[in-house]
Amino acid sequence: MKLFEPLNIAGMAIPNRIMVPAMVTRLSGDDGFVNQDIRERYVRYAQGGVGLIVVEAMAVHDAKSGPLLRISDDKYIPGLADLVRRIHDSSDAKVVPQIIHFLKVAKSGWRQTVDMLSHVDIDRIVEEFGNAVVRARQAGFDGAELHSAHAYTLASFLSRTNPRTDEYGGQALEGRLQLIGRIFETIRKKTGGDFPVGVRFLADEFIKDGYTVCDAKVIGLRLAELGAAYLSLSVGGKFEDAIHVPGHVPYPYTGYSGDRCMPGNWYPNVPHAHFSAEIKSYLTSHGYNTPVATTGKISEPDDAERLVAAGQVDIIGIARGLLADPDWPNKVRDGERERIIRCDYCNVCKHLDGTHNRVICSLWPQGALQAPIDIRSADAPKWNSDGAALRVLTAGNGIVALKWNKSAAASRYDVHRCDEQGNVSIEDAVKVTRWEDHNVLSGKRYRYYVKPYAATGQPGVPSNTVFVDLPPPSYMTPSMTAATIG
Ligand SMILES: Cc1cc2nc3c(=O)[nH]c(=O)nc-3n(C[C@H](O)[C@H](O)[C@H](O)COP(=O)(O)O)c2cc1C
Repeated sequence: MKLFEPLNIAGMAIPNRIMVPAMVTRLSGDDGFVNQDIRERYVRYAQGGVGLIVVEAMAVHDAKSGPLLRISDDKYIPGLADLVRRIHDSSDAKVVPQIIHFLKVAKSGWRQTVDMLSHVDIDRIVEEFGNAVVRARQAGFDGAELHSAHAYTLASFLSRTNPRTDEYGGQALEGRLQLIGRIFETIRKKTGGDFPVGVRFLADEFIKDGYTVCDAKVIGLRLAELGAAYLSLSVGGKFEDAIHVPGHVPYPYTGYSGDRCMPGNWYPNVPHAHFSAEIKSYLTSHGYNTPVATTGKISEPDDAERLVAAGQVDIIGIARGLLADPDWPNKVRDGERERIIRCDYCNVCKHLDGTHNRVICSLWPQGALQAPIDIRSADAPKWNSDGAALRVLTAGNGIVALKWNKSAAASRYDVHRCDEQGNVSIEDAVKVTRWEDHNVLSGKRYRYYVKPYAATGQPGVPSNTVFVDLPPPSYMTPSMTAATIG
């Protein structure tokens, strides 16, 4: 599989094309230092076989925030160096920190915007990014990633809504590129230019008047010209459409652009990779082979392999999917797809991030702070003597309610549904033994079964299968339904 072929990123050799993109864990304290929980979280990704680990956003400055890692002072270097050492000792994965600058936001909903920054402020930001990259290198990281996506300072300069009217301003795309250009210049001066520095930026802002892939292609080209080691594409996640809850600091993933950034379970799989493919093809046509990473609801191994094999992108970012199951790469490589603990995109992790609580996955065992260790020899969960006894409680008015018996040692159940065409999909992953399907079409026949999983990912035997024939809606004549079925 091409997914498991190595890739050289400006001298940083990653063993495969799977990346865990930056994901704030809220595991650090307000002091910004690496602690034991952080070390465990990232060593776990390394053990799971991922090729590139992007450590969660860490601030290049000291501005107040919730729990967040920092790289704003030399005092953080020993802790970061220890983290890197442990990751390198655990696997041949490469590791980079995502470095971030953010502006002030208040509980009142007020927020600082880029037009409020003086030239002195801008010079300071340039210096802070340069110094942070130097510290990343001193800590032993294999490279660094500039966070120029979502709601943060660099992305706000790149934004089509950048309100500045000077040389850093939004009237011309060149103006919007000025800050990141100066940051690359400073990094070059401070590191000699041989330290791989990638950039995460938006393929589409997904806000009114925001930029789309048309600008993103040109931004990508400039970043490639500047020598960016890789380009990692995200979408949305802006303050402009965030829903402000009075008394709380606005969280940029609450509006529509936030939905796009971390697409929930009602979104199709792989909703954004076509943007990354378009940007990659644009770079190629301009003579650049800068590796391009895409992220966004990719968790099916076939999707990941297809995108890489077709040359549409070079690296597959899997955030929530690897949070749910850090062993995803090893399981896919070893032909154990059945054992993957599949993210159900419930976004509990996103909610925990937004409320500054420690980020965990709701599919992990109750109370766990880290993904359970994968024990291949672990016992598969068994049904009790009465079997699964999957049954339909009610079916009608567009809702099917299912119930089944508890399975000993099961920590979750995947609910599978099969439609009349024989397409099987995993509709949800639940810890309880009852589930309702709200996405069925009256007049159709569906088939369901559930499968128990141990906390270790070990699957049990599927339950019995139940068939549901939903009565057609009253506004349709029998001939209409027959025609549809026929
Ligand atoms: C809890 C959480 C924290 C995140 N933190 C960051 C971050 O620090 N930097 C970043 O660029 N993206 C962050 N993201 C966005 C992810 O990197 C990723 O782009 C997004 O979740 C979509 O990918 P997925 O569908 O594979 O989860 C975060 C996402 C989640 C769920």
